[in-house]
Amino acid sequence: MGRAEKVVLAYSGGVDTTVCIPYLMNEWGVKDVITLAADLGQGDELEPIRQKALKAGVKESLVADLTEEFIKDYAFPAIQANALYENRYPLSTALARPLIAKALVEAADRYGADAVAHGCTGKGNDQVRFDVAIAALNPNLKVLAPAREWGMGREETIAYGEKTGLEFPVKKSSPYSIDRNLLGRSIEAGPLEDPMTEPLEEVFLMTEAIENTPDAPEYVEIGFTQGLPTHLNGQAVGPVELITQLNAIAGRHGVGRIDMIENRLVGIKSREIYEAPALLVLIDAHRDLESLTLTADVTQYKRGIEETYSRLVYNGLWYSPLKLALDAFIQQTQERVTGIVRVKLFKGNCRVVGRQSDLALYSEALATYSSDDQFDHRAAEGFIYVWGLPTRVWSEKLRG
Ligand code: ARG
Repeated sequence: MGRAEKVVLAYSGGVDTTVCIPYLMNEWGVKDVITLAADLGQGDELEPIRQKALKAGVKESLVADLTEEFIKDYAFPAIQANALYENRYPLSTALARPLIAKALVEAADRYGADAVAHGCTGKGNDQVRFDVAIAALNPNLKVLAPAREWGMGREETIAYGEKTGLEFPVKKSSPYSIDRNLLGRSIEAGPLEDPMTEPLEEVFLMTEAIENTPDAPEYVEIGFTQGLPTHLNGQAVGPVELITQLNAIAGRHGVGRIDMIENRLVGIKSREIYEAPALLVLIDAHRDLESLTLTADVTQYKRGIEETYSRLVYNGLWYSPLKLALDAFIQQTQERVTGIVRVKLFKGNCRVVGRQSDLALYSEALATYSSDDQFDHRAAEGFIYVWGLPTRVWSEKLRG
């Protein structure tokens, strides 16, 4: 008896997931492997990847176009949540995992598989995100993670694959571990493992080096409708197109790079390089529009919700009850987050320089220092008396 009869494997076309195919069949007695390659706008040609899996011996090689769903149902809610893990990482990799897990579970259901599989190692967050998401969506499915158990290094993995008849074109292998989708790229390992080493320009693909950015700033007006980005420079644009265009615009100004030491769920600190141009600009702009359209107490309370939300998403709890409850809170707050934000992109900086909304709670008549002022200054006196009363009583006790 093998570990499973029929398995749907998340497939990227890389060495690890390709070696998973013979490994599952030969070592773990799986009869039938079906691969599923997810299109998340990473820019890879999916047909050659599909063929590669067939060559490696799978019965069925699936490609799922998930880009639109990824942006609408995973990235956009995260923008509404202003989600930044440890205040910096916009979760571009983390957001893709629950969607890939959902596609795996659905394919398993469709093809009558008793297990799903992924190529994650035992050191990262992604294994947690897959396993927990799958458990949430179908607690009866087995999850197989060959690379977590096989204990082979890079060379051994390739040798194992070659022994089973796989061919790996001799291209100079990159020292980096890279994950990519339409939202951004995560780059780790190789020379980056020394936290003091500056990343070489070769690691970046979506963002220009400051040295090569234009010498004139560029303004972009981003329109939001109930917290969702819907317009660029006055034009209505669909979700995928909006991210694509904004990635290009922000990227050419060198906006969107992050270099951080991050705390993984499995207890390891890791040095991470990210580029996520559109996502970072959108979070900045969205947060700004909230400051114009939400009341003070909602704005401030939401900050705490956002931090919890970001941690849950990072830690693989996308489909958890707490995350769903926070979603409901966040959705409720977005009702009036409609308007435009103007950002200025220049030499690696994104600065909000204007915002406007028909639903703005900002009132110039109340805020102004000019003679048009409508604020009742005398009302402040009684307010301050009551506001400061507990502190006054406390101080009097001390001083007699
Ligand atoms: N540290 C990031 C995260 O946990 C990126 C992970 C990148 N994954 C990868 N397979 N290289 O979301």
